[in-house]
Amino acid sequence: MSSKISLTRYLVEQQRVDGHIPAQLRLLLEVVARACKSISRSVNKGALGGVLGSAESENVQGEMQKMLDIIANEVLIEANEWGGHLAAMASEEMEGIYVVPNRYPQGEYLLLFDPLDGSSNIDVNVSIGTIFSVLKKPEGAGVSEQDFLQAGCKQVAAGYCVYGPQTTLVLTVGDGVAMFTLDREQGSFILTQENVKVPEDTKEFAINMSNMRHWDAPIKRYVDECLAGVEGPRGKDFNMRWIASMVADVHRILTRGGIFMYPWDKREPDKPGKLRLMYEANPMGWLIEQAGGAATNARTRILDIQPEKLHQRVSVVLGSKNEVERVTRYHNEA
Ligand code: AHG
Ligand code: MN
Ligand code: MN
Ligand code: MN
Repeated sequence: MSSKISLTRYLVEQQRVDGHIPAQLRLLLEVVARACKSISRSVNKGALGGVLGSAESENVQGEMQKMLDIIANEVLIEANEWGGHLAAMASEEMEGIYVVPNRYPQGEYLLLFDPLDGSSNIDVNVSIGTIFSVLKKPEGAGVSEQDFLQAGCKQVAAGYCVYGPQTTLVLTVGDGVAMFTLDREQGSFILTQENVKVPEDTKEFAINMSNMRHWDAPIKRYVDECLAGVEGPRGKDFNMRWIASMVADVHRILTRGGIFMYPWDKREPDKPGKLRLMYEANPMGWLIEQAGGAATNARTRILDIQPEKLHQRVSVVLGSKNEVERVTRYHNEA
């Protein structure tokens, strides 16, 4: 009977056996996981917990905030500010960075998160999640927003927790991707898959089809060829999925392959797309790459993009390597 490996034990082994992660990073990830458990409990209460509906406030993205956006943000701040592992945090739901108050010790890491991803699904009981990314704070006294503006290839840990039929935490510290399912009786995340691999080919694409008239030509060409099916140039039929929670779409792709696209479209021509680089595209892009997939902005590797602003947006094309490369080829041929 294989003994169950908890997240704690997995991280201790990553620290001890592989020398992969320092104790401070291990402890930081444990705190983030505990915060996700707390958010999962709130999500599961739904209407009984008074967590549904709008908060009647707008965030820096110009989005109307949901109650759970704010609750999840507060849970992550309160869980992480006192432990001494962090110097500061950044969130989709906060305009500037949150520097650890002087009454607490400052650590050497920076934590970025999308506290509640898929907000439009909160009130309709569809899977949502939390996305997180960890960077090292640059040497030197103090911490500033500039310290966060590091390319995704500098991440030291990245992951998400999806609140669905199961609550599952998915994590990479640079040594492949592991999945942990929450055992509610024990209250601990149990290792249920490691060395996750994204198949290089797929017959499943994910994109919000209602935006078709706004896409640029290469994306339109790629999707039209998928829709043409076995009689078309691809010679095979494709399936389409779009959950509108990035965590759920990425979880499906990590589990059975696929390609996810949120491209530039002409509704906001001066913006490269809807999704945010620092706390959506970078962590998800690293997870996908660690599982053998690819993640681009339709032309170049997402993890190589040098950020200029904390909340900057980016086009996202990620998943099964051969399909992502085909989209890049179509953009280069355009
Ligand atoms: P968030 O709820 O954190 O703002 O993110 C929502 C994102 C992402 O999760 C999802 O893939 C995408 O928005 C869905 O966008 P559309 O509703 O435009 O399809
Ligand atoms: Mn999001
Ligand atoms: Mn969000
Ligand atoms: Mn949002």
